[in-house]
Amino acid sequence: MSGHALAPLDVALIRRDFPLLYTPFHGKPMHYLDSAVSGQMPNAVIERMAHYQRFEHTNVHRGVSTLSQEATDRFEEAREKVRAFLNAPSVKQIIWTRGTTESLNLVAQSWGRANITKGDEILLSAMEHHSNIVPWQMLAAEKDASIKVIPMDDRGVLEMDALDALLTPRVKVLGITHVSNVLGTVNPLKEIIAAAHAKGVVVVVDGAQAVPHIAVDVMDLDADFYAFSGHKLSGPTGIGVLYGKKGLLEKMPPWQGGGSMILSVSWEKTTFMGPPGKFEAGTPPIAEAIGLGAAIDYLNAIGLDRIAAHEHTLLEYATKELNKIDGLRIIGTAPGKASVLSFVLDGIHPHDVGSILDHEGVVVRAGHHCAQPVMKRFRIPATTRASFAYFNDLEDVDALAAAIRQVKEIFGSDSAHSAEEQA
Ligand SMILES: Cc1ncc(COP(=O)(O)O)c(C=O)c1O
Repeated sequence: MSGHALAPLDVALIRRDFPLLYTPFHGKPMHYLDSAVSGQMPNAVIERMAHYQRFEHTNVHRGVSTLSQEATDRFEEAREKVRAFLNAPSVKQIIWTRGTTESLNLVAQSWGRANITKGDEILLSAMEHHSNIVPWQMLAAEKDASIKVIPMDDRGVLEMDALDALLTPRVKVLGITHVSNVLGTVNPLKEIIAAAHAKGVVVVVDGAQAVPHIAVDVMDLDADFYAFSGHKLSGPTGIGVLYGKKGLLEKMPPWQGGGSMILSVSWEKTTFMGPPGKFEAGTPPIAEAIGLGAAIDYLNAIGLDRIAAHEHTLLEYATKELNKIDGLRIIGTAPGKASVLSFVLDGIHPHDVGSILDHEGVVVRAGHHCAQPVMKRFRIPATTRASFAYFNDLEDVDALAAAIRQVKEIFGSDSAHSAEEQA
């Protein structure tokens, strides 16, 4: 971020790009506070994809038709936009996938199967999403390897003192989320990656919740792999990205076979393309890749640093307002959080909170957020989570706080009633 004051966002203008936000919901104004589950796409992204589908579509990397060559150009231009967005050295290091989950499975199945052997250790952080746990557990079971976990404290901050001892000579890979989807913690990635590299450990970063809020520079971070999903970045579902270091990608075997990823096929032998082609078997999600490119253009035009400053203001205000509510406890209080606010209300299940908020037009997520080990760590079954984006404003936060107070009123009388019934 520059030392100059950043121009504030014109949220009213931005909101005009999102018809959903000004469409009544249960007869009330819509307050979309669920961007961590999936961002909304601005008109520019939807229109870019529709234009492609109407006027430009055919398959890519096939044939000499002008239409195919132009579709291929648009598709590869989108890859270049992702490369620039992550500051990756080359487009050859940008692999299209279906999303973060598929990107992480690709690393576990391709790099992992080739490099993890019996007795090896896979180190994960205590705040991983299931998508950066389960693929590693599957690999560990197959290879007779084991999983170790970096603990976190009651604020949701990783215990960095434990890291060095956990990085034993048996550890081959560290899987770490850049930003926690439950706690909002922004992990000190550069420091963690440097510590892992000092022990020769490969680092796989789950960037799903980071890319919408933080300008990511994979070269500066020195990440070995970095994964994210289009739909959390104001782009469509069905498209994601895996960035990998050149030397690693070149040595990795393909993980799916088929068309588009080969140099030659005979009954005796098949030879494969280099990266990224060898990891992209079959027809890719073309409109979705182009849509993700348009989403990056849209966010760049607003400016990620301005977005981060705006979301920080919303998070601070929301934290202050929610802390005024009796019986509400915020889960995740790390300094410098990203704009995710999880909370529990005394005696009221988060699903009930989420349902009542929904009827008030306040869209949030309630549940375990695909992070059951995090729930276990905080000894709670679930949380209600509000997450803020560049199109949210202080009114959205006020609506959230008012709706939570309403939940408390409803449950105040209800719980007394059910207690009476049980007596
Ligand atoms: C931190 C984190 N990692 C991974 C994922 C999985 O993303 P996707 O379902 O798009 O593959 C999510 C989605 O909620 C997430 O928040």
